[in-house]
Amino acid sequence: MQRFYSVYKGCFYIFEGLFKSGVKHGFDCFSFLIVCDFQTRIYCIDLIKSIRASAPLSLLFFLSNSTIGIYIYSIEKELILQDNNNMLDFFASSISGTESVLCDELRELGFSSVRLNRSGIPFRGTWRDGWRACLESRIAQRIQVLMNRFQAYDQEALYKGIMAIDWTPFITPRQTISVSAVCVASSLNHSGFVALKAKDAIVDQIRKHDKNQQRPSVSRTDPDVRIFIYLVNNKVTVYMDLSGDGLHRRGYRQQTGDAPLRETLAAALLRLSGWDRKTPFLDPMCGSGTIAIEAALWASNFAPGLLRKRFGFERWANFDEEAAMIMRELRGELRGAVCSQIPSIQASDIDEDVLKIARINARAAGVKLSFKQRSILDLQGSSSRTVVVTNPPYDIRLGADSKLRHGITSAVNRMHGWRVGILAGHADYKKFISASPREKFEIPNGTLECQFLVYEVE
Ligand SMILES: C[S@@+](CC[C@H](N)C(=O)[O-])C[C@H]1O[C@@H](n2cnc3c(N)ncnc32)[C@H](O)[C@@H]1O
Repeated sequence: MQRFYSVYKGCFYIFEGLFKSGVKHGFDCFSFLIVCDFQTRIYCIDLIKSIRASAPLSLLFFLSNSTIGIYIYSIEKELILQDNNNMLDFFASSISGTESVLCDELRELGFSSVRLNRSGIPFRGTWRDGWRACLESRIAQRIQVLMNRFQAYDQEALYKGIMAIDWTPFITPRQTISVSAVCVASSLNHSGFVALKAKDAIVDQIRKHDKNQQRPSVSRTDPDVRIFIYLVNNKVTVYMDLSGDGLHRRGYRQQTGDAPLRETLAAALLRLSGWDRKTPFLDPMCGSGTIAIEAALWASNFAPGLLRKRFGFERWANFDEEAAMIMRELRGELRGAVCSQIPSIQASDIDEDVLKIARINARAAGVKLSFKQRSILDLQGSSSRTVVVTNPPYDIRLGADSKLRHGITSAVNRMHGWRVGILAGHADYKKFISASPREKFEIPNGTLECQFLVYEVE
């Protein structure tokens, strides 16, 4: 009680200061609320929404484990000030080998507390930041929000830990859910069992909360809410996935060739190549056009998520009309940032049928590329510096005998003064290109171990 009183007194002084500064800034009506010892701050965000309706400026003092967070919202929905204690922890997952460029991208996009990590990048922010990451990141596979971390050596502890999370803002009996788990070096080592137990805890909580004792159903193929559980060394980390379908599903790829590259990997290769988005660009083995389309989207600052109809979080129970309006505004801001001036971006392939697909995809993405049917073997370098990023056949899904591999490397050797990035799934590519790669990245493409080799051809 004593502790609560002193924290309360502290809040009061802060409130008084904010009130004075609020008056100075022309706000003449406030409401404020003190909340103590809630398990999750997510609940507070819902509270903020209700108090926001009643005053032009609403304050919420949030006390949890003796930390104090202060939110101030204006009626215009803008978050004016947010204490660090009330930020959410996000995790942007990535294809292995692309973490460094995802980290650069998220920093460039202005997210805070971005840290380089294996298999993905953690960052902190508000819900709006999480939504913005889904819209703007070209490289992230998924954006997830951290719900809780706890120890669990047995199923009871797992059930209790999952129950301790308040799922009710996100899931009602009308939502469908899916829970998947990964277990590493833990007493509970059966991922299927862990996922089932966690799902039971969530379903039981929602049923208890529902006045008709209804429960959400499970959907394996198209759930409204996806939950991921990582159990490593008996420590459970619970994430809720904001993305829905993986973020590589931009929405523009209507059809593909035989061995298409993921859009997120194509975007990562462009960054790894060091392309400056001004120099002319070419993919001479473009297939369904993914690399060239991603190059055009990046060069025009077109946020890839603008092509998506919706994300996972837009199907959560708390995604109401007000949240939809914030998303509409975000989309509008991003559309306003698109620029029409881009360098020449060319895409060629030997196969006319696959070029037809590339043209359809480029049209769906709304980008203008220059397409040409041509064998790379006929390509002569030119004096105008060009950046090439390409993904030649590996002789696995698509045929590439040693004659073709030699032909491709000879073509690269002729690209004097050009920068060339090649996603090589066969050792011959490195062996027969006369220059040494200035950079080399180990990147799996699906199940294939590949190297992305970047050359400055002399
Ligand atoms: C691995 S696929 C590229 C996939 C592409 N990145 C995509 O996302 O769809 C390799 C492409 O090289 C093309 N190709 C094979 N031999 C070629 C040659 N001699 N000249 C140009 N393209 C060639 C194939 O038609 C195929 O579309």
